[in-house]
Amino acid sequence: MRTQVCIIGGGPSGLLLAQLLHRAGIDTVVLERQSRDYVLARIRAGVLEWGTVGMLQQAGVGDRMAREGFVHTGTYLAARNRGFRIDFDALIGKKVMVYGQTEVTRDLYAARDAMGGVVIHGAEGVALHDLDSAAPYVTYRKDGADHRVDCDFVAGCDGFHGPSRKAIPDSVLREYERVYPFGWLGVLSETPPVSHELIYANHERGFALCSMRNANLSRYYVQCPLTDTVDQWSDQAFWDELRRRIPADSADTLVTGPTIEKSIAPLRSFVAEPMRWGRLFLVGDAAHIVPPTGAKGLNLAVGDVHYLHEGLVQHYAGDSHGIDTYSERALARVWKSERFSWSLTTMLHRFPDQSEFDQRMQEADLAYLESSNAAKVVVAENYVGLPY
Ligand code: APR
Ligand code: PHB
Repeated sequence: MRTQVCIIGGGPSGLLLAQLLHRAGIDTVVLERQSRDYVLARIRAGVLEWGTVGMLQQAGVGDRMAREGFVHTGTYLAARNRGFRIDFDALIGKKVMVYGQTEVTRDLYAARDAMGGVVIHGAEGVALHDLDSAAPYVTYRKDGADHRVDCDFVAGCDGFHGPSRKAIPDSVLREYERVYPFGWLGVLSETPPVSHELIYANHERGFALCSMRNANLSRYYVQCPLTDTVDQWSDQAFWDELRRRIPADSADTLVTGPTIEKSIAPLRSFVAEPMRWGRLFLVGDAAHIVPPTGAKGLNLAVGDVHYLHEGLVQHYAGDSHGIDTYSERALARVWKSERFSWSLTTMLHRFPDQSEFDQRMQEADLAYLESSNAAKVVVAENYVGLPY
């Protein structure tokens, strides 16, 4: 098989890149290890930067999002039983869209189907070859048979655990990482959200977040020790802990119910450099991971897709400047979002070795943020998304 761009990974990065390149007349093949149902069963975050909204519209997959998504013009932060709002619209005239990543992925799969695009599910043993040549290729196994995809370029959209980053020689690859000493216990419940906008709460017992998917599907998180397991947390224990950590006026109106999903996720900050080696480009989680506190995971992936799509279109029009500067441009935005995600995580979470003084410093950070429009603007412009 031959294609112009072989995309490894059928998650949001791979599917969005495939869709945008198709609309530019560039042929792609997507190789995905898992089944489509498996990919669509993943529960992920749900806040889209307005730049992401624009990219999805540009890809022709914005209609359902426009119908079913929720436009948010602000968010709440809370500490010491008090919440305050950061009004994105009033401060910087921007907003975000709340629309689950699962739905984004579902819309992208539907678009791929509609254009008759190739997504090879069940692709096992994907391996990248001759990336430092003008004729790279990718091999994989499916149904017991070996296959080969010859291509001009390989887009490594295969997430943190995929083979693409590992195909870059150790002598070239540089990795930067911070692993946080806690996790997020998240639940979905078919209950009305406690608030019309998100609430990020600092509490001496630990962080909590109130989010949502729709008017009757809520998403909640509490920080928990990495040693915890889901089995240790009954629904009642979760609701009781959430109520302790959010402001009383929200805790008093919280509607609880049986959880329909419960999971614990670790938190890490991670960046791999460079994001290009030869004919390979790393995209999304294959190149970087952020703690979910800043809701940047999907949005950073979309930023990479923006730069790579633009660069590949230019390349096939005879100008390789865009792909030659892809890594530099993508990383410049990645590092700023890594900083924002790290800073919010540091301000809002209870660290195991944290002293009472440290807790007071976090609370003072939040009190200053509440008192200063200048400080709110900094949070607002990072949260809604830095320019591409
Ligand atoms: N061969 C083929 N496909 C693979 C392989 C492999 N060896 N390894 C991983 N994959 C697939 C995974 O099954 C997954 O569907 O690559 C895809 C990577 O998707 P994501 O992990 O979702 O990463 P990305 O598309 O960059 O999206 C980033 O997803 O994980 C969240 O928080 C993250 O919101 C962010 C978004
Ligand atoms: C979510 O809705 O799952 C969500 C929202 C905001 C975050 C993280 C997760 O920062």
